[in-house]
Amino acid sequence: MSKLEGKVAVVTGASKGIGAAIAKALAKDGAAVIVNYASSKAGADAVVNAITAGGGRAVAVQADVSQAAQAQNLVEAAVQRFGRLDVLVNNSGVYEFAAIEEVTEEHYRRLFDVNVLGVLLATQAAAKHLGEGGSIINISSAVTDVLTPTSAVYTGTKGALNAISGVLANELAPRKIRVNVVSPGYVETEGTHTAGIAGSEMEAGFVAQTPLGRAGQPDDIAGVVAFLASDDARWVTGEVINASGGVR
Ligand SMILES: NC(=O)c1ccc[n+]([C@@H]2O[C@H](COP(=O)([O-])OP(=O)(O)OC[C@H]3O[C@@H](n4cnc5c(N)ncnc54)[C@H](OP(=O)(O)O)[C@@H]3O)[C@@H](O)[C@H]2O)c1
Repeated sequence: MSKLEGKVAVVTGASKGIGAAIAKALAKDGAAVIVNYASSKAGADAVVNAITAGGGRAVAVQADVSQAAQAQNLVEAAVQRFGRLDVLVNNSGVYEFAAIEEVTEEHYRRLFDVNVLGVLLATQAAAKHLGEGGSIINISSAVTDVLTPTSAVYTGTKGALNAISGVLANELAPRKIRVNVVSPGYVETEGTHTAGIAGSEMEAGFVAQTPLGRAGQPDDIAGVVAFLASDDARWVTGEVINASGGVR
């Protein structure tokens, strides 16, 4: 039996990049998957088509996770479409870098709204449905160790996420729900291309700092998430696992 057979997962921000790879990996291991997107319907539909073409089950659901009602609807979609919820992957995230002189309230709010509030809202909605054996996986970043200049706000969101995850691991443990963090190093994605990082000096710097000597790819992260989603990780909670090619 596949290790996620019978489980239902919600993956936020699964229309592209790391989230798309996670959705496909969970589906390959047998989970039915809600493929969330904010604006990229075509991307989410392509992920769903790839999953269903391989014999898996998936549905695309639009929701801005930073809006409480939409986060709620996203989680409810899992229960309505597939009858239950076992796994929540909080992957949606926005990254922008700004020197301290250039930080604005808008930059701060955009990043904290999606990267922190969005996780809280999706988790709050999911906590109503998760039962014993439930697994929440939050996608943070190795920037919390590397402390990259010009990333004060982005790194701040991921530091907050790590702290929140530790609290929720303790808070939900009595219900036998696990909460873990996966911290990628630099990963080449649609997002890093759009942000102008892929192909830039910044990317070359990230790769130079990576002991395994290359940029990460979305699939490098997805397998770690699939493990944490599964019962193989039943005794693992409150952990921050770097999937970073050795960056710490
Ligand atoms: N790439 C890296 O080097 C790297 C390294 C460490 C950590 N991470 C983290 O990994 C996660 C994914 O990164 P990525 O590079 O794969 O990103 P990406 O390619 O830019 O994709 C971001 C995803 O998040 C979704 N999203 C954005 N705002 C949203 C919102 N308000 N509600 C719901 N979904 C929203 C996007 O949806 P739409 O496209 O539909 O708008 C998209 O599916 C992020 O949390 C990021 O911080 C990335």
